[in-house]
Amino acid sequence: MKITYLGHAAFLVEEGDFKAIIDPFITGNPLAKTDVNSIKGLTHIFVSHGHGDHLGDTVELAKANDALVISNAEICGYLSGKGLKTHAMHIGGRHKFDFGTVKFTPALHGSGISTDEGTVDGGNPCGFVIEIGGKKLYHAGDTGLTMDMKLLEEENIDVALLPIGGNYTMDIDDAVRAVDFIKPKVTIPMHYDTFPVIKADPEEFKAKNKASETVILAVNESYEF
Ligand code: NI
Ligand code: MN
Repeated sequence: MKITYLGHAAFLVEEGDFKAIIDPFITGNPLAKTDVNSIKGLTHIFVSHGHGDHLGDTVELAKANDALVISNAEICGYLSGKGLKTHAMHIGGRHKFDFGTVKFTPALHGSGISTDEGTVDGGNPCGFVIEIGGKKLYHAGDTGLTMDMKLLEEENIDVALLPIGGNYTMDIDDAVRAVDFIKPKVTIPMHYDTFPVIKADPEEFKAKNKASETVILAVNESYEF
């Protein structure tokens, strides 16, 4: 599995013919160095919750690539109303797709969708465990530290993508505690430095995290496992 960090909580995930983007916040993302029109061949789009910095360019990318959106039932209902192909799941649910298996995990956060007509209910925010060919990736979404993360230890996560920026999500110290709960082989920090209020030093996280290897990805850098 190859993952590429696009800035904030956006990652490309590639394995064979499977090419997915998680939380595709490209337009308006101060960290992004990708032209949204240059993202081709997407098969799937994962959306963890309804906030604009995660829903991002989902509608445009799904239409341009004819990609299947995987999200919670409320966000899928909203997006199918815009003509997108969706597969609705929800927290605790696991489903076997042709590319592998996806499980939805809880996140402690909000999920309202801001629209011109006001805020639309985006259901409960989620994270994902994506398993392809025996390799497991966990994208936490936006979340505070939760005891539920202890349950993820039994998932034998290879790579965990965890927010460290604070203010809206876990900060560095809580992300370190989350790694102790989850016990992934590798942790990649995300959701930091995008805006002044979530400024955080990933090297500080790396120094404090004794429970897994830490890989800090620069924007557009990839990691394979
Ligand atoms: Ni959020
Ligand atoms: Mn966010």
